[in-house]
Amino acid sequence: MMILFSRTSWLLLLSMGLLGACQGQEPGYQTSTDTTAAVMPPGKALFEQNCALCHGSDGKRGLNGAHDLTKSNLNQAGRVYMVTNGLGNMPAFKNQLSPEQIEQVAAYSLTLQ
Ligand code: HEC
Repeated sequence: MMILFSRTSWLLLLSMGLLGACQGQEPGYQTSTDTTAAVMPPGKALFEQNCALCHGSDGKRGLNGAHDLTKSNLNQAGRVYMVTNGLGNMPAFKNQLSPEQIEQVAAYSLTLQ
């Protein structure tokens, strides 16, 4: 299990780096083929659906000990890892969301102030 987790997260990190290098954009915003991106920032809808219950739309709700995302020091890679694998009362999303969706929702969570 541990081997599987760490291999997955390395693949995520690797693909982030490659995408960023190829397109010269911030990871998480390459959504040209994603039709849901037309209306809202790509991660926003995902965040509302999957995260707002505990974290609140503004990231500050703190249900069940959920951390205030506006105060989190985790960077994109750390948030991707956290959302993918979970920790404590924070559920893992690797079976619900694709790696691309996790990138997007993590990037969106970084924009919360
Ligand atoms: C069932 C409630 C719940 C849901 C749903 C949830 N979280 Fe969390 N989250 C938590 C809890 C609880 C923690 C604190 C975990 C710990 O450190 O023990 C946490 C911690 C985090 C952290 C780490 C913050 C820090 O610096 O410590 C991030 C980032 C995060 N969540 C992002 C998300 C995102 C993005 C989603 C949606 C994909 C999400 N969470 C959905 C409960 C939740």
